[in-house]
Amino acid sequence: MIDPKTLVGNWSYPTSIRAGVGRIRELPDACRALGIRRPLLVTDPALAGLPIMAAAIDANASAGLPTPVFSEVRANPVLANVDAGVAAFRRGDHDGIIAFGGGSALDCAKAIAFMIPQTRPIWDFEDVGDAWTGAQTSGIAPVIAVPTTAGTGSEVGRAAVITDEATRTKKIIFHPRMLPAIVIADPELLVGLPRRLTAATGMDALAHNLEAYCSPAHHPIADGIALEGMRLAKEWLALAVREPTNLAARAYTLCAAHMGAAAFQKGLGAIHALSHPLGSVLDTHHGETNGVVMPYVLAFNRPAIEEKIARAARYLGLDRPDFDGFLDFVVALRSEIGIPDGVRELGMTEDHLDALAAMAAVDPTASGNPVPVGAAELREIYVAALEGRIAGR
Ligand SMILES: [Fe+2]
Repeated sequence: MIDPKTLVGNWSYPTSIRAGVGRIRELPDACRALGIRRPLLVTDPALAGLPIMAAAIDANASAGLPTPVFSEVRANPVLANVDAGVAAFRRGDHDGIIAFGGGSALDCAKAIAFMIPQTRPIWDFEDVGDAWTGAQTSGIAPVIAVPTTAGTGSEVGRAAVITDEATRTKKIIFHPRMLPAIVIADPELLVGLPRRLTAATGMDALAHNLEAYCSPAHHPIADGIALEGMRLAKEWLALAVREPTNLAARAYTLCAAHMGAAAFQKGLGAIHALSHPLGSVLDTHHGETNGVVMPYVLAFNRPAIEEKIARAARYLGLDRPDFDGFLDFVVALRSEIGIPDGVRELGMTEDHLDALAAMAAVDPTASGNPVPVGAAELREIYVAALEGRIAGR
């Protein structure tokens, strides 16, 4: 039995992280450390007004830091959300942002902070080549990230995913200065997260670690992080879903989320490439969608990753320490935590195949897949996920 009170740490990798139960009480101190006197808290409408957020705002207020809330953030944030946030920031003469919530709120908050000094449109800073070097860096607002889900890892990431409504595509906006300056990783903030969201976001964290690990790029540092990130997801995710108030499970799954995001600078792959179009067109939950497509992508990639996955299976201590054992583990975890088996349950039909495959092929994550994939290959995986057919099983 692990005492969650002992799971406390001050980490400086990849940014300053204050990890531990109850550390949300350090929010005023974090503001002070960054010289923030007039913070704007950015969150989503579901969280605004919940007791965990009220407590954070009260802590700031009693420390002389009045903290207005901006909550016009959609589940898959769009440019209009970023623009409205920039306007609110300027109107209130704010000097820093508290990004409070799940991936959507954190991404939107980071994009708002980044856009404060920019004169060019946000799409100029899509993560392509060295586009980020054209950004204005002076005046980017400092960000304190307070995650309330354990999935995206956006709190330790240098990018934000924003949906371009004109083309219904998710675009990755990247700048090194988008990395939050301080993260408050308090497992207590996650105890109210509904089971379905715990499961879905946890599958996003697992997908980040898994895809980073499988990406063929040379990055042994990321490989090491990703392996342990997968192990933490294996040990703790189902428990966090079963026992939402288990603080050790919340602490370790939160850590797996940080690790996934730290590792995926190495690359992602077809899980994300297939998931992004489904999210854009059918408004599905990103993490849940990753969980749905995960075994189909693993099976498709088998020729390139079989030995590597066997190594991971041994590290994870799986009963059957080989590729099939790992596939069994993913399928069993998915069903244990209530993730659907196929994309039909997410609303996809054969009519979507061509359009979604074309979108997946140009998704920037597709290029990190261990087996090269274009529209034809990605369509093939979508078909398998429609039919519920995992190759080799
Ligand atoms: Fe993701």
